[in-house]
Amino acid sequence: MPLPARAVKSVIAMLSGPNCLVGRPPAEGNCMTDRVAGEAAHGAGSRRMFAPRPAAGLSGTVAVPGDKSISHRALMFGALAIGETRISGLLQGEDVLRTAAAMRALGAQVTRDGDGIWRVAGRGIGGLVEPDDVLDMGNSGTAARLLCGILASHPIFSVMTGDASLRGRPMRRVTEPLAAIGARFTAREGGRLPLAIVGAEEALPIDYMVPVPSAQVKSALLLAGLNAPGITRVEEREATRDHSENMLRHFGADVTVERQGAGRVISLRGQPELLAADVAVPGDPSSAAFPLAAALLVPGSRILLPSVGLNPLRTGLLATLDEMGAGIMVRNRRVEGGEPVGDLEVAHAALRGVDVPAERAPSMIDEYPILAVLCACAAGTSRLRGLAELRVKESDRLAATAALLAINGARVGIEGDDMLVHGTGHPPAGGGLVTTHMDHRIAMSALVLGLATGNPVGIDDSRFIDTSFPGFVGLMNRAGAGLREG
Ligand code: S3P
Repeated sequence: MPLPARAVKSVIAMLSGPNCLVGRPPAEGNCMTDRVAGEAAHGAGSRRMFAPRPAAGLSGTVAVPGDKSISHRALMFGALAIGETRISGLLQGEDVLRTAAAMRALGAQVTRDGDGIWRVAGRGIGGLVEPDDVLDMGNSGTAARLLCGILASHPIFSVMTGDASLRGRPMRRVTEPLAAIGARFTAREGGRLPLAIVGAEEALPIDYMVPVPSAQVKSALLLAGLNAPGITRVEEREATRDHSENMLRHFGADVTVERQGAGRVISLRGQPELLAADVAVPGDPSSAAFPLAAALLVPGSRILLPSVGLNPLRTGLLATLDEMGAGIMVRNRRVEGGEPVGDLEVAHAALRGVDVPAERAPSMIDEYPILAVLCACAAGTSRLRGLAELRVKESDRLAATAALLAINGARVGIEGDDMLVHGTGHPPAGGGLVTTHMDHRIAMSALVLGLATGNPVGIDDSRFIDTSFPGFVGLMNRAGAGLREG
């Protein structure tokens, strides 16, 4: 089916706009040319921030915002269900607000009733309508990739874009398998956003082995499979976060998960009637990692992090910190909204270096920048293995993390896909101004490092913290950190 004329026109307009990339970026790498251009454009409104070492330890209760992965999914599944889904604890960060806006643009009614309390009146599977404008997914890879899955099996036309960071990230990992179900994608060179999508008239179920460990790719295929008749089968060699599978079941879909070595095979029966369900979003373990690391590093600290998600496919950092001697206590383990949660009690601890196996990477993929900060302050050399996927996050996180540490006086190296951090048992000197590359986790990792170093650590731009952790600065400062703009 050819692209409708108006589609072609809007795509051409976008492709000839200021963000056009000349040349061919690598097939599945980070497109740094685009990112550098985007960062330059961002320089104007950037907000520098500094983290000096606090005089006393951090203390008190630090309630982190809702889980980002679960929040995106709650809005998306709510929009695909029949009836009204009520969500509590939704992360109101910019990434998730982009998903809320996109689901509205596709015809769902999305209403905010109070802090973290949202309602979604869904349209049923196959019921989304053509958006009348470009869907802008901001900085969010999860929003963009999962939405590609939904749009691929709706017979509508849409165009998706994002900020300079997202426009540099690989999308072929979703568009290639989604083309096999019958959707058509027209993208920039290298398969990057902006992307025009013509969803399949009648989607086909597929059987697909995900070639990289990615919950986003797996979830995109399952979301597409919802509107395909028959069984969609997705195989992953390494188990990745299973929030989509859990939520599909919670909304009444027929999903089976078989373990296969370290991986899993997920089978979904298509065209179920998804029924609205309440979702209680737990605290995000990936956000909790920052105050948790700060408490470990600042002498005299003791904090409590209540209701943090403890899904076993997200707890690689806790296992690693245990090996480093962190002594974190998990209290009051319980199940809330279908996900395991607990309260974490963390105090200052002397850490030792660690060797993190590659197999653990999917269960802590977003935690490597802050783990590397901890390793830089620990005694002995740490080796963090198998980090190829870090190169295609909001920034090239492997390079950005190494640069963050190096500019603050830590010894760090990259060997193939491994990162080596040579800790001395003491924080490095600090004093560096870290380039954050539009990456929230690089920004927060650098600020946490500054709470431990003798010289304050600065970041070039704090604005992207709001994508995943709105209120980070206030929360940290109420616990005793003195983060300040400057
Ligand atoms: C996510 C999956 C991970 C993770 C991201 C959220 C999700 O990405 O890094 O922050 O919600 O599915 P990949 O699937 O690309 O590994």
